[in-house]
Amino acid sequence: MWLVAVSVPLLPAIVLASRRYHVQLSSLCLRALGWVLRLLRRGGVCVGSTHSFVFSNCTHGKVDSVLETFDLYAETHPSLSIGPVIGEALDAVVKRVRPSRVLELGTHCGYSSVRLLRLLPPVGRLITVEMDPLTAELGEEVILVSGFKHHQFQVLTSSSAEAVPALRSHLEPDGSEGFNLVLMDHDPLLYLADLQALEREELLCRSGCSVLFIDRKRRAGGLRGILDHVRARSDSSCSVRTELPSLLEVFYQKERAEGEAEGI
Ligand SMILES: C[S@@+](CC[C@H](N)C(=O)[O-])C[C@H]1O[C@@H](n2cnc3c(N)ncnc32)[C@H](O)[C@@H]1O
Repeated sequence: MWLVAVSVPLLPAIVLASRRYHVQLSSLCLRALGWVLRLLRRGGVCVGSTHSFVFSNCTHGKVDSVLETFDLYAETHPSLSIGPVIGEALDAVVKRVRPSRVLELGTHCGYSSVRLLRLLPPVGRLITVEMDPLTAELGEEVILVSGFKHHQFQVLTSSSAEAVPALRSHLEPDGSEGFNLVLMDHDPLLYLADLQALEREELLCRSGCSVLFIDRKRRAGGLRGILDHVRARSDSSCSVRTELPSLLEVFYQKERAEGEAEGI
């Protein structure tokens, strides 16, 4: 009631302003609408509906069923999960590297986390970082529904920039070794800064670490910054190992494996 009482005397001024500034006002409204839609897609609708579809349609405890249900969802809905095509390229790298300590930046609903976890050895561990608290919670639930336990993985609710400097404490007791596989699928604009932070913190295992970058938009030069960084390094401790349209693998190694050193 009070709103009506306040608005009525202001009505002529509102009409006048909307006539005079209608171009600016409509552009402001369009921007606000775009912002709300983006917010809904990223933080709520997309994550929430992916989670509830997977949760209610998969067979709990069956990893393959969880992944198939994600793929089924993505056939008819927009999805941020890497999906089966990039997923198979990822599987091939994981099978070759056989990592035991894996870091993922960008958990989302847990699709790639589940894909990674199913290929780790029994002692393997995944740390996955997600900055949106609701998304992190839903992603963690999907990982648990797939049958994985908390001793196998940890979801850190944090931005990558804040998480990286604190990661060593999460790697204990063998934190000195660092990760042997890192998957970046969070924000391509942050890939280079986060890679440099991982190098600075010496979190890439000296005896070998594959760092994977997902470029789902396949933009020309999308990962150019990473490629330039790798090529500009004066030491020969890192090199590009796989370069696919949506996936780039950079391999780091500071110490040669025992067999190699002895020429075996
Ligand atoms: C493309 S999705 C990841 C999809 C996931 N890898 C999969 O296949 O299921 C990107 C996720 O990264 C998160 N994200 C974006 N920027 C981030 C940052 N700086 N730190 C941590 N998470 C971030 C987003 O909230 C989003 O959930």
